[in-house]
Amino acid sequence: MNRRGFLAAGLASLGAACGAPQVRPEPSPPARVSLSQVRRLVAERVDPVAGRCRFVADLGTRQVMQPILFARRGEGFDALIENALPQPTTVHFHGLTLSQAQDGAGFDPLAPGERKRVRFEVQNRSGLYWFHPHPHGFTAEQVYAGLAGLLVVTDDEDQALDAALALAPRNRLALAIADVRVANGVIRPYAPGAADCLHGWLGNQALVNGQLGAAWTVAPGWVRLQILNACNARGLLLGFFDLSEGRKEKPIPFHLLGTDGGLLTAPRELDRVFLYGGERVDVALDASGRRALQAVSLEFDARRHTQGAAAAHRHPARERYAPLAADAVCQSDSPEGDRPADGSELALFTLRIEGRGADRVPTLPSRLSALPDSSSPPDAPTRRIRLDLDEHGGFLIDQTPYAIDETGFDVRRGAHEVWEIKNSPISMPHPMHVHGFGFRVLRRQGTFGAARRLATEPGGRFATDLGVKDTVLAWPNETLWLALDFTLPREAAFGGPQRYMFHCHNLEHEDGMMMRNITVL
Ligand code: C2O
Ligand code: CU
Ligand code: CU
Repeated sequence: MNRRGFLAAGLASLGAACGAPQVRPEPSPPARVSLSQVRRLVAERVDPVAGRCRFVADLGTRQVMQPILFARRGEGFDALIENALPQPTTVHFHGLTLSQAQDGAGFDPLAPGERKRVRFEVQNRSGLYWFHPHPHGFTAEQVYAGLAGLLVVTDDEDQALDAALALAPRNRLALAIADVRVANGVIRPYAPGAADCLHGWLGNQALVNGQLGAAWTVAPGWVRLQILNACNARGLLLGFFDLSEGRKEKPIPFHLLGTDGGLLTAPRELDRVFLYGGERVDVALDASGRRALQAVSLEFDARRHTQGAAAAHRHPARERYAPLAADAVCQSDSPEGDRPADGSELALFTLRIEGRGADRVPTLPSRLSALPDSSSPPDAPTRRIRLDLDEHGGFLIDQTPYAIDETGFDVRRGAHEVWEIKNSPISMPHPMHVHGFGFRVLRRQGTFGAARRLATEPGGRFATDLGVKDTVLAWPNETLWLALDFTLPREAAFGGPQRYMFHCHNLEHEDGMMMRNITVL
């Protein structure tokens, strides 16, 4: 559907009484739960035909399906993680500083029926974090099945910002955007062909917090959205259109407040922002005088300079466990014409603006946090990392496919390092993610023309390279320089060597071996 088409569809659904959805929504919209209330966190399959799954938070007194977790910095989590899936799983808290034992990495899976006690304290800055399965070979399938939960962390800076914006409680939303393949109003099971295994499994519709055609009602004034790209492989170029009468053809300006690991030092005004798998943005927009906004992924050049298909990777465990739904994984060759295109325009969700706002909308603070500018100590050694495409092996890090029992490289505890990540020109975008450590983006080089327009920050960086990052996009032909600080908390839990993961967050690439283990000694 072109933009006019889906804008019209958006308006039509706004007009429809009670907004009867055209397609069947997921069972229930998520409810808020405080992190320390959770006694058990269960991953379970709800629908064996389509393979849909969900997280259930057991609070002792009641159970909440697909919860959004909330925590203050310093708040604790002490719960049983329980695998009620017919496959191995883990629960990984993406972005949090956790010890190896609590990280839920793929080398530490829970077999079906197993449970594990996980305890930690949230050490990270306020921001949007998330939790998802990470079992090697099954991650893409389980995340696509609906297992992607949000964790909103708050602290004093975060609350001061809400107060400065005079934010109405319903005007702050935490949103997980996934894409799913919908046919005849039903979400299709995960059944990638060989081409999907190379490029990633893309959907043709957005599923936001578990809902197709998602819409929220907000009040006039500032709206603050914390948004996660929870898609398996689709990149989003996020923008907002005003659907009110006399709407413009251009996306409206908004303010970037924060990225993966919390608030920026100062906001940036933008009209679009790239958001790749695993990345988050925190944005504010002024809804005053508007009736409806449509969030979209704008059309862009997805830079897939690759052809062909990847051979299905042999995961020994995959042979022992059946797929979540009837169809096979990475075996069939789905017809090319059937695959949605990355970079095509996609409607994400709608905001309806209703009610009376405050008479005066406060101005956005010019300073959001005390975060210093990104830099690295002058003596920090540089580690060179290469992202390549191997015709037989698919996408690899330093020419080496993932080996679950091996360490790719060791890092000294407390060390500062600069990582120089170079992506091959004959490649595609890779959102690269490090477990356990937030990093800063120092510089970017070799960005292709169309994206360079968005590289508005010093060092050829995008606005989304600012702040504390845990996932960073590497376009084909780019070289990135990141500053990492391998300081670990002085807690018993962090004693001894700690093993973490470094991988592409295109989940088909991750399952396809584009991953390494790193050990902090
Ligand atoms: Cu969001 Cu290693 O994962
Ligand atoms: Cu992670
Ligand atoms: Cu990748």
